[in-house]
Amino acid sequence: MNDLLEILTTQDGSRTLYNRQYQQSFRSVHGALTEARHVFLEGSGTEELLKSRQGVSVLEIGFGAGLNWLITAAAARQHRTRLAYTAWDKQIPSAELLSQLGYGGLIGAPALATTIEEWRKTFINDVPHGTYNLPHDHDSTLQLCIGEATEAILPDLSYDSIYLDAFDPGANPELWVPEFFGQLYKALRDGGCLATYSVAGHVRRALTSSGFSVVRRPGPPGKRHVLAAWKRETAGFRSDR
Ligand SMILES: C[S@@+](CC[C@H](N)C(=O)[O-])C[C@H]1O[C@@H](n2cnc3c(N)ncnc32)[C@H](O)[C@@H]1O
Repeated sequence: MNDLLEILTTQDGSRTLYNRQYQQSFRSVHGALTEARHVFLEGSGTEELLKSRQGVSVLEIGFGAGLNWLITAAAARQHRTRLAYTAWDKQIPSAELLSQLGYGGLIGAPALATTIEEWRKTFINDVPHGTYNLPHDHDSTLQLCIGEATEAILPDLSYDSIYLDAFDPGANPELWVPEFFGQLYKALRDGGCLATYSVAGHVRRALTSSGFSVVRRPGPPGKRHVLAAWKRETAGFRSDR
């Protein structure tokens, strides 16, 4: 898989990966870290939940190099909150590439980055499909599900937030359709939010037809808008607030 991936430095100085097969970068070239924080951690309301709650659960579709998990886990540590994070991906980049991205130093959480790198080192080639529980903080969990996300059997009403971070709808059409969004809707708790970067009309329509209340938010540098899709009629409302 490594020969399909190359490292790019983005405009905020953070790095990301470019996949030659999909011809897509993992994060925005206008700023990988800026985008991850704006679209996912803040845009889903997860950061606010981490500040105000004792436990938060997040589902990510498209773990990639783990930047969204790292910033979320670092925020959970900062706010002394338990995080249960489940993520799906078909494949995880090599430990060498993960290390070269330098995310641990970038976000000031080297031990979290090491968690992923050390686990990834235990596989010489691609990670076999399956579910892996990675210990890091004693009260937080990272469950990595390696396999085809459309085949996921997701538990109902289980996640406070969903980060939908697949490649774009042209590259990964299977993850941007009502059938899949319906699974995500059922898995989200009432008042929960799905955040994503695509604002394509067919994505908004598919989310709406699956039950979500879709809101366009201002985007990070290089992008006019991004999406927050809520499980309730009243956008921005969470049932426990
Ligand atoms: C935009 S990248 C994710 C970036 C990542 N969240 C990060 O912070 O580094 C998209 C990811 O979706 C994964 N992916 C694409 N199609 C998939 C599918 N059908 N099932 C599971 N994972 C998929 C790719 O392998 C890739 O790692």
